[in-house]
Amino acid sequence: MKDLLYKEALSALDLSYSPYSKFKVSACLLTKDGKTFKGANIENASYPLSMCAERNAIYHAYMNGYKKEDIKAILILGDTKDVISPCGACRQVMSELLNKDTIIYLANLKGDIKEYKIDDLLPYSFKESDLDNA
Ligand code: THU
Repeated sequence: MKDLLYKEALSALDLSYSPYSKFKVSACLLTKDGKTFKGANIENASYPLSMCAERNAIYHAYMNGYKKEDIKAILILGDTKDVISPCGACRQVMSELLNKDTIIYLANLKGDIKEYKIDDLLPYSFKESDLDNA
């Protein structure tokens, strides 16, 4: 599973549109029924409008009718010394759109791959039920 996701993410790296940061990131998500959905970071001259690779991959899966319970794993890939570290916004999105047991592989171009769950990456996240106190 990890090897397939790594290969697919590697093939998506060139889809990155990152003329500002020149930092390509890609991601590939695997559904429980064996489909893969890729994403890459897509930037904008108005910098905050840029979108990260992993969010694009997750939205791609959702736009094809998949939900959190259908998602088995996601791998995120960047050219970093250690494995890539997803930004805070992506951790928050993953905490809502992935299940607690979804495997999150973080990888780099040297072939290092580490395995996490969302609670490792974002403990005590803000969630839908927190809105009940409003
Ligand atoms: N980026 C991602 O796409 N995912 C990550 O996990 C880390 C950062 C993007 C955002 C921006 O386009 C570029 O990398 C530099 O921050």
